[in-house]
Amino acid sequence: MSDLPDLSDAPWRDIPWRLLGDARGVPTMLSPQERRAYLWLAEHWARGAGCVVDLGCFAGGSTAHLAEGQRRDGRSGRIHAYDRFTISDPLKEKFLYPAGIAPYEGDDLLDAARQILAPWAGLVDLHPGAIEDQTWTGEAIEMLVMDASKAAHTMDAMAATFFPALIPGGSLIVQQDFLHWKTPWVAVQMARMADWVSPAGHAERDTMIFHVDRPLDAAAIDAGRCADLTDAEMRAALLDMRARLDGFGVEDRMDALVRAVELNAGERIAWKMKTAP
Ligand SMILES: C[S@@+](CC[C@H](N)C(=O)[O-])C[C@H]1O[C@@H](n2cnc3c(N)ncnc32)[C@H](O)[C@@H]1O
Repeated sequence: MSDLPDLSDAPWRDIPWRLLGDARGVPTMLSPQERRAYLWLAEHWARGAGCVVDLGCFAGGSTAHLAEGQRRDGRSGRIHAYDRFTISDPLKEKFLYPAGIAPYEGDDLLDAARQILAPWAGLVDLHPGAIEDQTWTGEAIEMLVMDASKAAHTMDAMAATFFPALIPGGSLIVQQDFLHWKTPWVAVQMARMADWVSPAGHAERDTMIFHVDRPLDAAAIDAGRCADLTDAEMRAALLDMRARLDGFGVEDRMDALVRAVELNAGERIAWKMKTAP
């Protein structure tokens, strides 16, 4: 791993905004630092050893930043973006219309995402539907970006489908939901897979990035399963991860995840997590 760029100092931190190019105008739920990180990782960390997979691309924001980074590096590998590609009227008002999408009826997001991603059309494949129902070809994945782990059981299914294609010593898992209090199972999953993955970097607000150190085999997938864990097991894993993240300055955020589990007993679905820490 020593010849790979060190991510612990967030090398994307001071990227000039203009380098985001066409990705500056896309609607996204990512923070400015997360946008810089996605661009930087696709341009400077990835080498084309496998494809890029974006789980939960919404209107294409995260995908656009990954594609722009890859384009800046001159690589032509595929970026596979997965989502239900449905959207509510309030989210259309908030994200799509300000970005220039003409107002429309219905909940479809696929056409709008295609329009938004048109500058990178040659790089991107969109896969509509529930991600837990998707299959993967087995092709190597160099960067797996996860922003759809909104329930522990769907997260477990996504891990079983995509993790085995990650390259030991040569892949990243970018966990967008890691520090969000409504999805504490993401940090639990990474903690329970600590024999296989290790923390590499943090992009403010919520993203933690992990190296894949060993093949993510059946034992690894089993170890990471979260849907049936007790709150006590969740809490123990979060405290373990808190210690592992020493130096990243996220202690308060990890404490909030522990508190979120305590305040929302037994809950494993993000939208049902009602009590904030
Ligand atoms: C926070 S948004 C993603 C934001 C996006 N990465 C961006 O850059 O703006 C989460 C997305 O995950 C999708 N999602 C959540 N669970 C899903 C599932 N089980 N199957 C398919 N899509 C899912 C939602 O439709 C939503 O668009």
